[in-house]
Amino acid sequence: MEQIVLTGIKPTGQIHLGNYIGAIKPALKLAENNNYQAAYFIADYHGLTKIHDQEEFRTLTYGVASTWLALGLDPEKTIFYRQSNVPEIFELSWILSCFSPKGLLNRAHAYKGIVASNKQAGKEVDDGVNMGLFTYPILMAADILAFQANMVPVGKDQIQHVEIARDIADSFNHQYGETFVLPEYIVDEETSILPGLDGRKMSKSYHNTIPLFEEPAKLQKLINKIKTDSLPPEAPKDTESSILFTLYKEFASVEEIAQMRKKYESGIGWGEVKKELFAVMNRFLEEPRKKYQELMANPEKIDLILQKGAEKARARTLPFLEEVRKRIGVLR
Ligand code: ADP
Ligand code: TRP
Repeated sequence: MEQIVLTGIKPTGQIHLGNYIGAIKPALKLAENNNYQAAYFIADYHGLTKIHDQEEFRTLTYGVASTWLALGLDPEKTIFYRQSNVPEIFELSWILSCFSPKGLLNRAHAYKGIVASNKQAGKEVDDGVNMGLFTYPILMAADILAFQANMVPVGKDQIQHVEIARDIADSFNHQYGETFVLPEYIVDEETSILPGLDGRKMSKSYHNTIPLFEEPAKLQKLINKIKTDSLPPEAPKDTESSILFTLYKEFASVEEIAQMRKKYESGIGWGEVKKELFAVMNRFLEEPRKKYQELMANPEKIDLILQKGAEKARARTLPFLEEVRKRIGVLR
């Protein structure tokens, strides 16, 4: 049986280095593997839980699409689409919601986190929570299950969501017989969490990100802002605890990494490391940045690609949903 690998990114902010290293880079590698059919999408309706400005929503959506394409995703080989162009996902989402205990969603990390911080701030527990945010994991389960995906490459923070998808699929299967494939998550252990400018997890929520396609001058400036300790240049330095080294490893060649390790041992100034980091990063990003800008200037090109992708996606989701409707007794 063909193995399906599926993942989505929601358009809620500019794509940053953490997204690239933690999610996009490993997913691109899987997409190149001929043993798998990759289905990658822009989770735009997940983005709607947060982004309520029309122009911003549009730009961020095209931004995610252009990022995948600029980094080399092949839309001929991959099924590459916009979630909102595949209506079966939303029908399935409703069906699944009827098999999702409310308590399961109460325990989802994202919702629980908001409730906890509301409590701490002395606010209503559900302050600022819309139902889209609360039922977010059900829509994500529908994304995964509608495609009968076997593998879901995600960052660590998304593991619980894939587990929720399995739980829901399992209770449906229990009632109606084997219908849904139980998905497995794939987490890249080595690069699971990339630190941001301040040393915390790089995240748009912390405003500590380095956007992937920043202009070179701005990129150097942001790199210069990365927090370091106050050791003098000649002092030997630890590679393991160095954010600069973690980043350097992602973009440099094996020889370059070995050389940099030596420099850390014998002493190198942080300013020098930052310059070298910029050089390897910019070398890698130059081409994709150009492609990204070109795509962003031609959204109609992106629409066309996504439209074709949605057709390929629906060739799978339409017949499968028929099957699901029969199982529950909506169809004969
Ligand atoms: P953010 O934390 O900026 O809001 P998202 O939650 O939209 O990012 O994450 C999109 C994808 O990128 C997820 O798979 C997530 O696990 C991954 N990701 C986000 N930040 C990082 C990071 N700092 N290091 C590694 N992966 C990350
Ligand atoms: N929730 C994921 C994130 O925030 C995005 C997403 C939506 C997703 N649907 C998905 C990821 C299905 C994998 C599979 O990163």
